[in-house]
Amino acid sequence: MALLSCPTRHPSIYHLIFFSVYLLFASILPILDGLVLGGDGLYREILRDETVLRLKELRKISGGEGYLERTFSSPASIRASDVIISWMKDAGLTTRIDQMGNIHGQFEPANSTKEALLIGSHMDTVIDAGMYDGSLGIICAISALKVLKMPGKPQVIAFSDEEGVRFQTTFLGSAAVAGTLPESILQVSDKRGTTVQDVLKLNSFEATAAALGQVRYRPQAGVCGDSWYCSPMGMVALAHDGYPLGVVKGIAGQTRLKVIVDGSQGHAGTVPMKLRRDPMVAAAELVLTLERLCKEPNKFLSYREECGCFTEESLAGLVCTVGELLTWPSASNVIPGQVNFTVDIRAMDDKVRETIVVSFSRLVLQKCDDRLVDCAVEHKHAAAATPCDAELTAELERAAGSTLSMMTPTAPASYRAGAGETPVLMSGAGHDAMAMARLTKVGMLFVRCRGGVSHSPEESVMDDDVWAAGLALVNFIDYNATAES
Ligand SMILES: *[C@@H]1O[C@H](CO)[C@@H](O)[C@H](O)[C@H]1NC(C)=O
Ligand SMILES: *[C@@H]1O[C@H](CO)[C@@H](O)[C@H](O)[C@H]1NC(C)=O
Ligand SMILES: *[C@@H]1O[C@H](CO)[C@@H](O)[C@H](O)[C@H]1NC(C)=O
Repeated sequence: MALLSCPTRHPSIYHLIFFSVYLLFASILPILDGLVLGGDGLYREILRDETVLRLKELRKISGGEGYLERTFSSPASIRASDVIISWMKDAGLTTRIDQMGNIHGQFEPANSTKEALLIGSHMDTVIDAGMYDGSLGIICAISALKVLKMPGKPQVIAFSDEEGVRFQTTFLGSAAVAGTLPESILQVSDKRGTTVQDVLKLNSFEATAAALGQVRYRPQAGVCGDSWYCSPMGMVALAHDGYPLGVVKGIAGQTRLKVIVDGSQGHAGTVPMKLRRDPMVAAAELVLTLERLCKEPNKFLSYREECGCFTEESLAGLVCTVGELLTWPSASNVIPGQVNFTVDIRAMDDKVRETIVVSFSRLVLQKCDDRLVDCAVEHKHAAAATPCDAELTAELERAAGSTLSMMTPTAPASYRAGAGETPVLMSGAGHDAMAMARLTKVGMLFVRCRGGVSHSPEESVMDDDVWAAGLALVNFIDYNATAES
């Protein structure tokens, strides 16, 4: 879930009012409790039981036989929209679908001058997806508003496309809302030659450039948002035992390179080892070089000269991957003539990433010289890191912390460490929040999932963690919106 947010134009005069979260809840929970349900004031029936049920229900809406697949504007996706709309209505929200198929839900009256807080995630999925990615953020947000019934500031948004499976272009939904989607997107086609425009028309959208332009969010006084995500958190979950939630301080920047290694093609049986110019072994060495560089950059580089930026903190989240390696002619009895491979480098700190890119490129040329092969490094893609808003992140952290304290008495054993500090992480994967950051301040909350596995049917989040996520959202919205009104 990515949290998109912000109120920039008219800073509220109420910002100065400060409640401790505990005080706030002491005063507000008994009232809501009576209204919504009995029990311990943790809204288990809505935030856990109903939310989990709905996750399972949405899981069943798929374009694939026996696996989950909901790509942009597919029939399954339209059926999912109807269900999401019915849940928004059940929460008391007024709904509308924009020209890109994003669903918006808000309480009436909507024309308050207060800042807006958009909370949401994406409803499309990858192929053979898990049931939480995207859906969790949407359903949790609806559940939180159902509990709070708080007109004005908070709104839910379900983005139509984040994964970009169908058109190989991510953030169709959120980029349109952020106003950064180019008109040319209408002519992009999927594998069958169907364009974005065709697909939109098929679903009775106008599918014109003008209609697209109208999707851009036009807040009266700013937008704030939030979306949720079951993201690769396994490592974090292990390192921070007891924490179901994490707060995200930013989305990593990314560089993609392509390395082309040219050698001498030859007969595997006749060319003596000494005379070979083998691009495969050179590529293998480069892959290992990259790994070492990113595992222990401080050891590997004379870093002070490089940028002086390799502090423990700035290195957080530095990850490097070779995911594709192609050889020519790719036969078991031929020394390859050419090997190409991809490099994906991500880091929160843009300077760190750029330094790694420069260092790696230099090492490539060195090692290739040593091995008498010819190498070229092509720059394919670079995106700067997206920092989350510090204030928003701090508020989310507080909301997550107070949630765990509230839950501790009844909580599962795995929450024992709960009342302590919430892990603050960076996200290695892209999210709608990246697109929305062009429009407004963003923040994100992560929910732990088993083994950090996402984009797979194995994706698994404990029911109690779903509950914690919903309650954290309630705490966050309640604290923020109450203070503003
Ligand atoms: C909302 O807008 C309508 C018409 O624009 C206006 O009559 C009404 O007073 C507004 N309500 C609030 C709460 O501002
Ligand atoms: C490597 O990349 C070059 C340039 O893009 C391309 O022409 C060549 O076919 C690729 N080789 C392999 C083995 O994929
Ligand atoms: C509510 O959220 C906005 C957006 O992040 C923030 O600027 C504001 O300070 C928050 N207000 C309170 C009282 O927490």
